Amino acid sequence: LESELGDYRHYMLKEIYEQPQAVQKTLEDRLDINSIKQCIMGDNVAEILKQVEEVQIIACGTSYHAGLIARYWMESLTDIPCQVEVASEYRYRRQVPRKNMLFVTISQSGETADTLAALEKAKKDGCLASLSICNVAESSLQRESDFSLMTIAGPEIGVASTKAFTTQLVTLKLLIGLLMQAKGGQSEAVASLVEDLKKLPVLIEQALEHDKAIEVMAEHFIEKHNALFLGRGDQYPVAMEGALKLKEISYIHAEAYPAGELKHGPLALVDSEMPIVAVAPNTSLLEKLKSNLEEVRSRGGFLYLFADKTSGIAPQDNIQVIEMDEVPESIAPIIYTIPLQLLSYHVAVFKGTDVDKPRNLAKSVTVE
Ligand code: G6P
Repeated sequence: LESELGDYRHYMLKEIYEQPQAVQKTLEDRLDINSIKQCIMGDNVAEILKQVEEVQIIACGTSYHAGLIARYWMESLTDIPCQVEVASEYRYRRQVPRKNMLFVTISQSGETADTLAALEKAKKDGCLASLSICNVAESSLQRESDFSLMTIAGPEIGVASTKAFTTQLVTLKLLIGLLMQAKGGQSEAVASLVEDLKKLPVLIEQALEHDKAIEVMAEHFIEKHNALFLGRGDQYPVAMEGALKLKEISYIHAEAYPAGELKHGPLALVDSEMPIVAVAPNTSLLEKLKSNLEEVRSRGGFLYLFADKTSGIAPQDNIQVIEMDEVPESIAPIIYTIPLQLLSYHVAVFKGTDVDKPRNLAKSVTVE
């Protein structure tokens, strides 16, 4: 049974390790050789997607971070402007009327009260169509939306979301691919998206192989009270998700910053007591990130890096590096999420917190 713990010490760890299969299942029967099957969102959906002029994504918590990454992807691959907002803010403010807006909610449970209320509001205000990306079939969110694209993560028991998040990212890729197909003229870009998606299960397995080294790294965090997470571009929301995980289960205050903003505030916090975690895949922003990291190092900060092995970042006295395999830039956010999940998991285990049921938090927030 998927809901049984088996040999794992916690559901969270089990769910982290289930990610290759969860991603595999989320992709299964949805891809053709060079394209995404149109039917996965229902019949005649291409007609609707063709009309989309704007996308508004709404979610809470970890699901919101998936939305933030999707915005980088959407606006790099399509000409469709994409906005992302947390449901509890969106639902209580006026929005400027927008034309042919696709309203997308992301939710593991499909029962989050604020997200449901935001959907209700969007329907009242008028949108072209609503789509839910959801892990629970027949959930309220799915029932209330015009379309749905399920994440096939299986039941997620740990309060801190892991496999739901990575499968949400995969599903958002599918949505972007469908939009590209509906708009036309991008068959090569769609084919390359599909090719990268198919590599995911193996690449996630490879990322999981760093578990032991990450556990050793995690010991350094036990006595810390704060941590700073850095990333740039679509890795900035990955850093946000890493910080959220650490807060949720280890109770260490953690904050994420886009590395280019360091000099506008957080550099003042850097000293030997502030661990700085950064995700550094080999992308066009790597050189920029490296100079940001140097700003931290030269001020006595201790860096914990998850860096592409070709990045040229070498371990030093105050730099620990976990060398990650080279991965396609387009799916790097999914891969670099894995080590951050493992890091917070091990810190929490060392600290002896209730990993699967952190204090004051609920798996699904069904009341406002
Ligand atoms: C709670 C959970 C989080 C989750 C958030 C949104 O805060 O503890 O793990 O990300 O709700 O939940 P949803 O089910 O809408 O994704």
